[in-house]
Amino acid sequence: PALRPLLAGNWKMNGTASALATLDAIAEGITRLPDVFDTLLCTPATLVHRAASAAKASRIQIGGQDCHTGQAGAHTGDVSADMLADCGAHFVIVGHSERRADHAETDGLVCRKAQAAIASGLTAIICIGETGGEKAEGKTLAVVERQLLKSVPDSATAQNVVIAYEPVWAIGTGLTPTVEDVASVHRFIRDHLAARFGAEGAGMRLLYGGSVKGANAHELMAIDHVDGALVGGASLKADDFLAIARAF
Ligand code: G3H
Repeated sequence: PALRPLLAGNWKMNGTASALATLDAIAEGITRLPDVFDTLLCTPATLVHRAASAAKASRIQIGGQDCHTGQAGAHTGDVSADMLADCGAHFVIVGHSERRADHAETDGLVCRKAQAAIASGLTAIICIGETGGEKAEGKTLAVVERQLLKSVPDSATAQNVVIAYEPVWAIGTGLTPTVEDVASVHRFIRDHLAARFGAEGAGMRLLYGGSVKGANAHELMAIDHVDGALVGGASLKADDFLAIARAF
């Protein structure tokens, strides 16, 4: 691929202290693979500090899964991008479909979260993707375009933003789009970003997410403009995650 790929795991709301053993096993396995891709684990906020310490001497980077639009203030229970950076995170996911659904996050809110992440020196992984209903109605590209326009801030660069295309219906279901469908959506995203951001848009990494596993990773990663993966379930076990890593 043209861009250095990013293999990102999203542990979602899984993992207590014992999960650090999984991180160690992944880090150890990654050292045995060629250094031709970046590896990231987005842990629960409660683990970011310990995970970043544990990963310090490894090829693994650590990220959060969400951040507030502000950096500090009266927002009980929220975590800011500054706080994640302070704990050793280098990335944060914003606008995951589970946040959009569980917390009614809008494109505009996701955009402001991405701006906060960038302001704190983090790379924002901005998630987009259509629901099953939208796909059935033939609206995939229209939804993706709207989300790109409204969720990606003007300050986005190839360094501070990664886009993750995750069809909502493919998350945690074992279903994946066809290679042709992934190729056409990623091509659309690339063209959109290049038109809006020029060389920066051409250099932004585009991840595919949704039921990525060892058995399909090779096929998915071979698609043009797929510059990595955002992996949920298969990032929770070292063997599963490393099976995907071997396809990079
Ligand atoms: O952020 C990760 C995605 O939601 C994909 O989850 O690999 O369990 O389908 P999954």
